[in-house]
Amino acid sequence: MPRKRKHAPKWLEAARQGGRPGETTFDWISRALARAGVIPLRDAEAAVQAGRVQVAGRTVTAPISLVRPGDEVRVDGKVVSIAATTRCLMFHKPAGIVTAGSDPEGIGTVFEALGRVLPPELARYGWHAIGRLDRDTTGLLLFTNDEKLVAHATLPERHLPKRYVAQVQGTPTDEKLDPLRRGVMLQDGLARPARAEIRADCRVELTITEGRNHQVKRMLSAVKLPVVQLHREAVGGVVLDVPEGAFRELSAEEIEAGLGFTPRTIP
Ligand code: URA
Repeated sequence: MPRKRKHAPKWLEAARQGGRPGETTFDWISRALARAGVIPLRDAEAAVQAGRVQVAGRTVTAPISLVRPGDEVRVDGKVVSIAATTRCLMFHKPAGIVTAGSDPEGIGTVFEALGRVLPPELARYGWHAIGRLDRDTTGLLLFTNDEKLVAHATLPERHLPKRYVAQVQGTPTDEKLDPLRRGVMLQDGLARPARAEIRADCRVELTITEGRNHQVKRMLSAVKLPVVQLHREAVGGVVLDVPEGAFRELSAEEIEAGLGFTPRTIP
């Protein structure tokens, strides 16, 4: 029986974490190329495996080969910069597609849908979704090339508000919504108090500061208002303002003011 390693080796831990600002960091070459918008991740992995990438004068063939800031990187003999800055996109997710790398049902993923509308300059980046929306949920989904922004925006302690509008079965009343305002008990523990408002046509506006699985649907089910349709309008101070299936890039000011994250140069 092969011996099981209790911990990942130190270099792997460091590469996964990407280091702290100001520290000497190193990263996987494929990820660094995608983050800096040189080549998308899958293509970067293929290029490395094909021997087309050199780091500090040596050809590397493993996509997880390490690269340090300042290392000269060449792709097909040409020097490329792996210095990246934080970028963030808002995307209006249509219903039917999943927030995952692949879709077992074959209908499609948000990454494929985003990829179809991005210009070549942005399609070269490795994009991470910030949080997730269910297959049938529509609305605001943010993407970034910066893993630190993902961690920042999805950390429950950050209390970043996410505003949803739900079409529900039944008639919402203040009496029914009050438990949500106080903090309703769910199967996985108490949900934080949420802002809950009645909108016209049996719709409820719910603003939550956590991001547990199917949380909005579970909260509204708990007060006997099952969700028929769910749409996300805003995350932090970023309000969706593009049509379904479309995207736009957020400015550095929008990232800072809307998400409380200072765009940075990576690494
Ligand atoms: N809560 C849900 O129930 N579904 C989503 O897609 C997002 C939040």
